[in-house]
Amino acid sequence: MARAIRGSLFFFLDDPGADHNPVGSYQYFEDGILVLTDDGHIADIGSATNMQSRYGLANRDIIDHSGKLIVPGFIDTHTHYPQSEIIAAYGHQLIQWLDKYAFPAEAKFYDKHYARTISRFFLSELLRNGTTTALIFGSVHKVSAEALFEEAEKLNMRIIGGKIMMDRNAPQHLLDTPETAYSDSKALIETWHNKRGRISYAVTPRFAATSSSEQLQAAQRLYHAYDDMYLQTHVSENQHEIAWIKQLFPSSKSYLNVYNDFGLVGPRSIFAHGIHLTDDEFKLLADKNAAIAFCPTSNLFLGSGLFNFDQACLINVRLTLGTDIGAGTSFSLLKTMAEAYKVVQLQSNSASASKKKTPLTPFKTFYMATLGAARALYLEDKIGTLQPGKEGDFIVLNPDATPLLNFRMRKTLSLADRLFTLMMLADDRAIDAVYLMGKRWQNSEAYS
Ligand code: GUN
Ligand code: ZN
Repeated sequence: MARAIRGSLFFFLDDPGADHNPVGSYQYFEDGILVLTDDGHIADIGSATNMQSRYGLANRDIIDHSGKLIVPGFIDTHTHYPQSEIIAAYGHQLIQWLDKYAFPAEAKFYDKHYARTISRFFLSELLRNGTTTALIFGSVHKVSAEALFEEAEKLNMRIIGGKIMMDRNAPQHLLDTPETAYSDSKALIETWHNKRGRISYAVTPRFAATSSSEQLQAAQRLYHAYDDMYLQTHVSENQHEIAWIKQLFPSSKSYLNVYNDFGLVGPRSIFAHGIHLTDDEFKLLADKNAAIAFCPTSNLFLGSGLFNFDQACLINVRLTLGTDIGAGTSFSLLKTMAEAYKVVQLQSNSASASKKKTPLTPFKTFYMATLGAARALYLEDKIGTLQPGKEGDFIVLNPDATPLLNFRMRKTLSLADRLFTLMMLADDRAIDAVYLMGKRWQNSEAYS
């Protein structure tokens, strides 16, 4: 008998844009049933009445989440697992924060046993927060990526990750070379990329300041040598960083152009932050089908600046959300959505604004965390919606998870209202269940 899941079903078919009532861009079944294939894909969806009669479902065939909202698992497009232990580290902005907190934390990941322990903690935090897919940085050590991939494979979780490439401007014990970065990344790619579990590889030069030209050339060779290869890095996060990049690469036209000069801007390349990008840089990203991971909790925490969502939308750049652990302050994409909204609010009312700015609607925000991210990662044939044929990665949101949510939800009328209330007030407490390839995930992680 097919397994069936009942609840309110909600997912996108297309980008809702800035429309406050984007009917046609999403599907919603107030009382719906999702039927799974034996191998954990979505077989069918529809209203409960239709599906019960189509499949002759008896109550015992149905896992009942009535009254809850079932959505595709969230997709976090920028995060660093070795930085789990430095979340909420006080007092510095980007460059000092890297020196004081990030590099010492990452230095521990030469030890595979330690990397495995933190991988398990990190992946269970993602899942506890409703994130079923993430694009993840390791440390410079090859074993950091191996440990992460092995743990994700055990969970049958769809992740993309890579070992950082970093051959200058960091402590000596954290440096690789263009040659070792190339050979270690290549070995990881050949073992893991679209080969084992649901793992894909991302070539991961940390940022232009910590890679020599020779190393960026090595990244270019890897990015172009393999089918469907990803590339992840940082761009234009902090003004001091931008000035530094100008000194290091005086002949490049801009920060993003450093990457472009090495052929690293293209499909499946995801650039974190992009806070201070010029219009030309946004256009380059859009033309090359690259994406920006907007990481609001990190941008606020490090005091990096306010991402120009309006301009990114006008220029039609692919936009996704990232938690950016450990500069980001939450594993929850719901909390990340709330901070994204506030970042846009801070820029939407300026007296100097001569025109109305693009609003960040609750629909757009949920889109960016699901189908929008799947599209940016070229994975929309696999994840990001609840359509038949997709992998059964979905989560159950409890709109009554806390007294305040329950109280506020009773005053909400529209779907937009309910989504907005969830993104502003909910967190991990509202994630009632998480399904990976149709199987309910049980948290067995007890970190001590
Ligand atoms: N830029 C280069 N490395 C990092 C990092 O680890 N975190 C953040 N937020 N920005 C970076
Ligand atoms: Zn980052």
